[in-house]
Amino acid sequence: MGEYGLMQCVRPALLLRKPLEKGLSIASNVQKHGAGALNIDECRFGYGDPCWVGPQDADTLGNTSKRNSMFGLGSKEMQTGGHPQGRWPANLYQCSDDDTNLLNTIDNTHEESNMTKDLWADMPTAKILHGDCMELLRSLPSNSIDAIVTDPPYGMSGDGIMRTWADLEEGHNVKGFMGKSWDSAVPCHNFFAECLRVIKPGGHMIAFSSTRTVCALGMAAQQGGWRVRDMLHWCYFSGFPKSHDISKAIDREAGAVREVVGNYSVSRVFDGSDLVGGNVASGKINITKPATQDAQRWDGFGTALKPAVEPALLLRKPLEQGLTIAKNVIKHGTGALNIDGCRFAFGDSCWVGDTEIWEPMDRGPSGKDSNVGSEVYGYKGATINTPNKKGRWPANLYQCPKASRSEREEGLEHLQSKTRSELTGRKEGSAGLEGSYGDGNNPYSGANYKQPIHNIHPTVKPLKLMRWCCRLIGGQRGSTILDPFAGSGTTLMAGILEGFDVVGMEMTDDYLPIIEGRVRWAKEQYKRENAQLSLFGDLK
Ligand SMILES: C[S@@+](CC[C@H](N)C(=O)[O-])C[C@H]1O[C@@H](n2cnc3c(N)ncnc32)[C@H](O)[C@@H]1O
Repeated sequence: MGEYGLMQCVRPALLLRKPLEKGLSIASNVQKHGAGALNIDECRFGYGDPCWVGPQDADTLGNTSKRNSMFGLGSKEMQTGGHPQGRWPANLYQCSDDDTNLLNTIDNTHEESNMTKDLWADMPTAKILHGDCMELLRSLPSNSIDAIVTDPPYGMSGDGIMRTWADLEEGHNVKGFMGKSWDSAVPCHNFFAECLRVIKPGGHMIAFSSTRTVCALGMAAQQGGWRVRDMLHWCYFSGFPKSHDISKAIDREAGAVREVVGNYSVSRVFDGSDLVGGNVASGKINITKPATQDAQRWDGFGTALKPAVEPALLLRKPLEQGLTIAKNVIKHGTGALNIDGCRFAFGDSCWVGDTEIWEPMDRGPSGKDSNVGSEVYGYKGATINTPNKKGRWPANLYQCPKASRSEREEGLEHLQSKTRSELTGRKEGSAGLEGSYGDGNNPYSGANYKQPIHNIHPTVKPLKLMRWCCRLIGGQRGSTILDPFAGSGTTLMAGILEGFDVVGMEMTDDYLPIIEGRVRWAKEQYKRENAQLSLFGDLK
């Protein structure tokens, strides 16, 4: 473990927009002011351009047949053609700089023989607390938690305005992702202050967010006493742009009919007009010719990038006053990142950068960066001939696909299932069910999406990613990781599988049986993964 940060390989940039003139549509605003549109077509990523680090098949939206199987998408979602001018520009661009409401303690839920009990005496424990995390947090002792890994509400309000809970208390009444009221605002400074109280000095927190609202979350965290150490970028590539075609909107508002001049093929059906080329029912996207002069001028302009990354803040509680990092780690077991445990193994698809092998060097005795600093300021760290066998230095960019349907369903067979149309209120087979939601991803799609599902949570994180996060900041096995927004329990599963005790808080009743089932599955999986080590007494 070390005090070094992660490999710095991404720089965020905010894309901001002044609100449109009151009463004007996007098309009228663009026509009147010449502002409001993104130049989608001229910023497309040409096929083969290294600025795109996602899958390489020639499609517009970044889906590939290989990726479809990774994401568990059926052939229906496969995109078979590509836009002639290149891929839809994404929000990820690569170029190099040279160029006590204890509901259940899962441990008590199964009967085990004495022999098995002894063998698994160190089995991680799980506590699931039901209620509002602001109240539950107050019931935890100070300095009792080693790390917090969480996926709080993203504040994806329909009007696009960032709010924290403090703003909501001032009287707003809005809904977030998929109409969920719990998603209407991001947690405020009071939440972060309470998390700060319960975590040990130097303890880390990873808090996921959306690209649109991470600023509000970061400010709230800082006001709550945390230090922002870094921002991680989970990169998944499979999102769909929810963009308005400005040229088509101008023609539609003018009542002008566009001539169809060609098409390119897809086999995914999108919902919403003007979304990536219009309504598509036949698997073909029509290429149409602008009908009016204004539409001709604004041809190729849109309003949104393809969502390819989700940010997560890496926060740290200040070290105990007067202690060095080394002394803090020894005294509290917190303050260090598990660099070696989180290295990117060579060949692991979580790393999407170049394959050159080079390492930042250790900090010198002065504590100042030696080669690490040079890497930041433009000249590279040392290229090494003897790479670390454990893999590359972990970066603040991590690629893995969204959780597949089978991963979401693990351990839940005993629960009552629901069909997707029951969950969404839309007819089976309708464009709305096949299409996109929120950030452009239908959480109820998946390999057997026609089958009823048991995990009804709409925002399930991938287990691989959450395991990596828990390992990165959890410290030594046996530490306690808290998730105040457990959702369907992915962080808890991840923590258990990494050998940590976990505490989860969740206020929505419907999600509690899902958490229980998935946590129980994780404990069984922990035994399967550690059976060999346990037999030889190596499980530490
Ligand atoms: C983004 S989801 C977490 C999803 C989770 N990462 C997973 O993989 O399943 C956030 C969760 O926080 C819960 N939540 C929102 N506000 C809460 C609060 N004040 N106290 C406890 N839970 C809350 C919601 O019910 C929702 O399930």
